[in-house]
Amino acid sequence: MSKYLVTGGAGFIGSNAADALLKAGHQVRILDNLSTGKRENIPPGAEFYELDFTNLESIRPAFEGMDGVFHFGALPRIPYSIEHPIESAQANVFGTLNVLVAARDAKVKRLVYSASSSAYGNQPELPHRPDMPAKPLNPYGLHKYIGELNAEHFARLYGLETVSLRYFNVYGPRMADEGAYVTVISIFVRQKKAGEPLTIHGDGGQTRDFTHVYDVVAANMLAMVSPKVGKGEVLNVGASDPRSVSEIARKIGGPTIYHPARPAEGRHSHADISLTKELIGWEPRIPFDQGLRDHLRSQGIEPQA
Ligand SMILES: NC(=O)c1ccc[n+]([C@@H]2O[C@H](COP(=O)([O-])OP(=O)(O)OC[C@H]3O[C@@H](n4cnc5c(N)ncnc54)[C@H](O)[C@@H]3O)[C@@H](O)[C@H]2O)c1
Repeated sequence: MSKYLVTGGAGFIGSNAADALLKAGHQVRILDNLSTGKRENIPPGAEFYELDFTNLESIRPAFEGMDGVFHFGALPRIPYSIEHPIESAQANVFGTLNVLVAARDAKVKRLVYSASSSAYGNQPELPHRPDMPAKPLNPYGLHKYIGELNAEHFARLYGLETVSLRYFNVYGPRMADEGAYVTVISIFVRQKKAGEPLTIHGDGGQTRDFTHVYDVVAANMLAMVSPKVGKGEVLNVGASDPRSVSEIARKIGGPTIYHPARPAEGRHSHADISLTKELIGWEPRIPFDQGLRDHLRSQGIEPQA
């Protein structure tokens, strides 16, 4: 049994991680300011510190006695980051730096950082490999990428073990229906329930590597304990099974309408997960068709073939 601090534990991925850690018999402390997270996502067995990690001194007590930190907390909003780059950097760059400093000073052994596939931007080659140069297309992607660089520095300079996991389009229970990660799945589900046509931006040929949140949680748990990481490695956490937006629309069913493509968004996303398999022994377990079917049924929608 270990003691873990989960930042952003009232959010989508962090709360699923907190559930799984408690189920595995660990002690869980959640640090969240409830900006995009919800109080009802906090599992009953977890300790809750309602704090804002943009204030270093206020968060220090939350790190005392912790064996490891899962840093899920962030302001995950692409359009917001374009309009408010300073606020995005405050949470995603300086907030992450505060979390690293507080973890280092409290002598936490390891920190697992939630990075983002948005670091890749549009690459000339697919699938995306962590050794490709980062080319973020928006401030959010840039700020999440700076978090990885800081995490690596903390491993090298201060001996805080770190590992960064770049998630690709996460979906599943408690997924957001607003924000940077409103996946097209959430949008289509909302439209279908409202009896509206499904809106496709661009030609629908853009792909996303949809990854189930339970698989993302499993990758975090492995990254926290694997003896082969801790030096600031960057690993992809994606299903490695990209699907087009048109395919998702077909599976949900109903009329569609087309809108112009959105700026500052990559066209394709496809994770190469060979390094992740090698270093932490992770691979996705939930096939997309099953994950989508379960999600749609949980929303009262019968999937089309
Ligand atoms: N969902 C995805 O598809 C996806 C993809 C790539 C990376 N990520 C990363 O995964 C992590 C979790 O994302 P999510 O989808 O669960 O988002 P989320 O918005 O559901 O969760 C983020 C949590 O962080 C909290 N938070 C924000 N600012 C804070 C602050 N200053 N102090 C304390 N808490 C703060 C929010 O209240 C929220 O509970 C983020 O770091 C995000 O960048 C998510």
